[in-house]
Amino acid sequence: MRPISLLYGLGLTVSAWAQSGSIEAYIASESPIAKAGVLANIGPNGSKSQGAKAGVVIASPSTSDPDYLYTWTRDSALVFKAIIDEFTLGRDTTLRPHIDNYVTSQIQQQQVSNPSGTVSTGGLGEPKFHIDLSAFTGGWGRPQRDGPALRATAIIAYANWLIEQGNTTYVTNTIWPVLELDLNYVVANWNFTGFDLWEEVSSASFFTTAAQHRSLREGATLATKLGKTSLATSYTTQAVNTLCFLQSYWNPSGGYVTANTGGGRSGKDANVALASLHTFDPAAGCDAVTFQPCSDKALSNLKVYVDAFRSIYPINSGISSSAAVATGRYPEDTYYNGNPWYLTTAAVAEQLYDAIIVWKAQGSIQVTSTSLAFFQQLVPSAAVGTYASSSTTYTTLLNAVQTYADGFILVAARYTPSDGSLAEQYLRATGAPVSAKDLTWSYASLLTAFKAREGVASAGWGAAGLTVPATCSTGGGGGSGGATVAVTFNVQATTVFGENIYITGSVDALRNWSPDNAILLSSANYPSWSLTVNLPASTRIEYKYIRKYNGAVTWLADPNNVLTTPASGTYTVNDNWR
Ligand code: NOJ
Ligand code: NOJ
Repeated sequence: MRPISLLYGLGLTVSAWAQSGSIEAYIASESPIAKAGVLANIGPNGSKSQGAKAGVVIASPSTSDPDYLYTWTRDSALVFKAIIDEFTLGRDTTLRPHIDNYVTSQIQQQQVSNPSGTVSTGGLGEPKFHIDLSAFTGGWGRPQRDGPALRATAIIAYANWLIEQGNTTYVTNTIWPVLELDLNYVVANWNFTGFDLWEEVSSASFFTTAAQHRSLREGATLATKLGKTSLATSYTTQAVNTLCFLQSYWNPSGGYVTANTGGGRSGKDANVALASLHTFDPAAGCDAVTFQPCSDKALSNLKVYVDAFRSIYPINSGISSSAAVATGRYPEDTYYNGNPWYLTTAAVAEQLYDAIIVWKAQGSIQVTSTSLAFFQQLVPSAAVGTYASSSTTYTTLLNAVQTYADGFILVAARYTPSDGSLAEQYLRATGAPVSAKDLTWSYASLLTAFKAREGVASAGWGAAGLTVPATCSTGGGGGSGGATVAVTFNVQATTVFGENIYITGSVDALRNWSPDNAILLSSANYPSWSLTVNLPASTRIEYKYIRKYNGAVTWLADPNNVLTTPASGTYTVNDNWR
């Protein structure tokens, strides 16, 4: 027991501590609650997860409004990555049986045929299963292609530790087969669209690409260690391609990463902070190629993301533009009317704590023209430059970022109920908890943020010194020559006889927004209209469908649809007329 929790009597509630302004008090009280909250949701003996197989993580014990009594591959992998890090860092040596159970459960889950396919025909992209590991066959946003990558990353962390302990045989015989299935899935599917981590739109997603890239890099390193050189080569080849594609999400004029090109969203999304902290590698410094937490791009993005919530949530009103606020998934979110989430608010803090770890380790902070707005928000006098730890500017900037980061934990603290339980969301108008109660991922997200605040980083994955191949540098402009990819547009549209659907958009190949020259889609699969057209690779493209009937043109309602083409391969978008 930490002494601090003894100092605060049982009479004080968590929220009262939060109001007292003491982040240490919140961390001291919430840490054991969050840890117990995670373990309660893991089978077979978790107190809130009866019926879950050994090693299975339930998303939440909630069975209605919403029903989250399922196991999601993503949530489970992120939660177990946190558990495996605690174990391998020697912070809690009692966790090992859970980890072994998790590995065993995933060996079984991988083999379960489901609506996304069998183990060899795409089934690894299935997002969720029943807690006895049988397939969930209802309608859902599937496939989701981050799951296999995140699971590989979690299990690789365990495999690396086992090898250090001299247990290579177990890794080769038992663990490698699971990893090979997941990594081969990533190799085969990274350039196909799928549903993103929020499960609503099928598109390219920064989080998914970043997770895939990381898994391929560390998968290649492990494969090499185990003597599987041709697999290592294949993983590295596709890692290079995913890293290339990852660059295309950056929107230089907006100063942020367009996280998700689907559904007409702005692309400002917690997706990116989550990607940054889950691909944190302390050895990579502030490298922007992998959007490290202290990179100028990731910091600029963080400002744009956080600012997107300042005016839309009533609980944020009156808060200074330089202080922390409640943040959610993305500003256009309408799920439960669109609210802040504990795990997204914690993610902002964790990204900044990770940044602080690196600045302290390297003994300097660099402000670039890209990150200037982020720093000036906190310290108006900040200027472009590199500040050594001996300078007062370094201290000023570091303290400002620390206070800002702590502010996000204190926002979560303010809206944590007195029993310390964490739901999925808290209401935008009042801060009262809403949606799934005891969300495992919420608990894990606070625990990993607290750990980062202590200055503890998890093992790296080989992000240091990576470079993007020159062939990718031509992307972004549109029509800049070079590589193209075949893009298939499918749009569901009911028409009357004689009425046809066309497409036009922001690049030459889509006729530069010309309704007169717009390209006719095929109605062979009516009411689905289709067209496959070669478009420049690694390029962000806006487009719209139009209807033509008796010479009259009707445009699809605003906003423009957006896609970002991959560096190679093919790409499909599925849209609806609206
Ligand atoms: C449930 C999903 O888990 C959530 O992410 C989504 O927002 C809602 N369904 C609405 O589609
Ligand atoms: C909805 C979230 O959007 C999704 O990311 C998560 O996997 C599920 N809930 C389960 O927690």
